[in-house]
Amino acid sequence: MFNVEKIRNDFPMIKNAGCIYFDNSATSFKPQCVIDRVSEYYTNENCNIHRGDYDLSVKVSKEYDDTRKTIKKFINCRDKNEIVFTHGATSSLNTVAYGYGLSHLSKGDVILTSQVEHASNILPWFRVSDLTEAEIRYIPFDEDAKFNLEKYEECFKDRKVKIVSLTYVSNVMGYKYPMKDIVRIAHKYGALVNCDGAQAVPHMKVDVEDLDVDFLSFSSHKMCGPAGIGVLYAKYKLLQDMDPVWLGGGSNARFKSDKELILKESPDKFESGSPCIEGVLGLDVAARYLMDIGMENIEAYESELSEYLVHRLSELKNVHIYNRNTDTAIVSFNVDGIFAQDTACYLNANKFALRSGNHCAKLLIDLIGTNESVRASLYFYNTKEEIDRFVECLKDITLEKCIEAAI
Ligand code: ALA
Repeated sequence: MFNVEKIRNDFPMIKNAGCIYFDNSATSFKPQCVIDRVSEYYTNENCNIHRGDYDLSVKVSKEYDDTRKTIKKFINCRDKNEIVFTHGATSSLNTVAYGYGLSHLSKGDVILTSQVEHASNILPWFRVSDLTEAEIRYIPFDEDAKFNLEKYEECFKDRKVKIVSLTYVSNVMGYKYPMKDIVRIAHKYGALVNCDGAQAVPHMKVDVEDLDVDFLSFSSHKMCGPAGIGVLYAKYKLLQDMDPVWLGGGSNARFKSDKELILKESPDKFESGSPCIEGVLGLDVAARYLMDIGMENIEAYESELSEYLVHRLSELKNVHIYNRNTDTAIVSFNVDGIFAQDTACYLNANKFALRSGNHCAKLLIDLIGTNESVRASLYFYNTKEEIDRFVECLKDITLEKCIEAAI
């Protein structure tokens, strides 16, 4: 049974933040069990892994590697060795672009992406496009950044698309794109799908087996885990066929002075250097914590919050909501006549934490006609009561109060 009051007690920052926190798309709070796990590593388990011939290192190496089993269960992939630990979704997405894109794309090929993407899922492809002469094309969306499967399928008609790189959930519009159909259509035309799951995986059940997606990237810090750690999932045969972006210790079986290099199998070949051990151990606990609550319960509760937030914000005649029919608890808006950052400053002065600006999705302006908005992004520990307080505060906003708040 989902009990938000009980859940809130798990998160020390809910008491300690001194504000109502609506910036969960940027990063989430961490439950005490995750904080304790990180602390436990530094207090009782501090050592390097995969490199020490002593009991402690063997024990912690196993705990680190066992996290792959937890993540395998969390996203329902076939093999724990399909889980590569990275520094975050950005580093996972870069690994796909450089590790797969550079060696598999060439002139005449098309990289199909969209204007809703976060910079992390666009900029690496710009560079790959420059280096390979593959062309970047954007999927034509419907008004307000809604997905249109027919227009999407049209993009494949000249059979040039080799990879589709798309977010599952927009970090500004909160729309959940139809990933299963997106993958089915791409595969029909022989293209692969690289999914940015940063805003999806923390909030809903993402089942890679069911989606049949080829690559999936996400960050630990947005799903109650530590920062500095992320996951790249890829089908094993694709990982075998990819080059690591970084080389160093831990990823090679041997190398010789004549430059002969034998890399290890995946996932090791992608994890050069001493990893963020405490991050992986904390991620293990975070994923278990979310699974214990149940991703379906989290999604259902957030959907209630989202509906309520849109409903309450709609009462304010001077508030323009860009995504009234959001699929997630991400709601982006502006107050008439007030810059987004000034609204965020006013809210901050009244102890509400929200992000404003373009949210790193700088091409979205072509679809929604603005490059700045205030974004409320809620998580399963937020409440309707917090939304009520937020709307009451927003009711009182004036330009003068914003200027006062900024001084
Ligand atoms: N990608 C994160 C956001 O949308 C940082 O805020």
